[in-house]
Amino acid sequence: MSRPWYEQLEQGVRSGEVPFQLSHGRELYSYMDEHAEFDALFASAMDCVEALTGDSFATDFDWGRFDRIIDVGGSKGSKSLAILKRYSHLTALVFDRNQVIQAAATNWAGKESPDLLSRLTYQAGNMLELVPAAKDDKDIYLLSAVLHSMRDGDCIKVLRNLAIASAGTGARTGDGIGNAGFEDRFFHRCFRHADVHGYPRQGKNAY
Ligand SMILES: C[S@@+](CC[C@H](N)C(=O)[O-])C[C@H]1O[C@@H](n2cnc3c(N)ncnc32)[C@H](O)[C@@H]1O
Repeated sequence: MSRPWYEQLEQGVRSGEVPFQLSHGRELYSYMDEHAEFDALFASAMDCVEALTGDSFATDFDWGRFDRIIDVGGSKGSKSLAILKRYSHLTALVFDRNQVIQAAATNWAGKESPDLLSRLTYQAGNMLELVPAAKDDKDIYLLSAVLHSMRDGDCIKVLRNLAIASAGTGARTGDGIGNAGFEDRFFHRCFRHADVHGYPRQGKNAY
């Protein structure tokens, strides 16, 4: 996955081409759909992000005002679980690509309590086509480390789908790529202009 940073980063920055595609011949998630082991490795890495970023996403926001998190691009749901542990009335719906969701559904059995897992559900799908519908203003959409790695056009598709799915409900949306300290120390200094895909973010599109 990190090959583009070393082999194609300069060409990507100079030309605007996507380094991951130059190295691997296709877009990241399309590549992962065809390489299940790589996809599983990536999803496991997502379970460990808190070790670098801390848990302020769970502690520094009042999730207790809501009844349900709709965790769009939530991978196996580790962030949702961390939040559910702090708020016993909350439930979460984790939405991700089919291959990730198939593995996620059995991933936590025996590792987390049945009571906790009974509040976590999954739905497979493509957020570029639709996202799960909100019911009311007690729903909140969580997009953690999702939009930052998408092309601008794909971000617009996802935001449109969120607008459609939440229309008239009053549901909220929260977006982030990590807590402020993490962004300062890590993303913004190292990967500001090229993330794992290597999409250049320059000029008015810079983070
Ligand atoms: C960088 S990971 C972030 C995972 C998690 N939200 C977190 O913060 O740890 C991005 C996630 O978005 C999912 N994803 C990317 N494109 C998607 C799409 N078109 N539809 C559904 N999920 C998608 C990936 O499978 C991956 O799990």
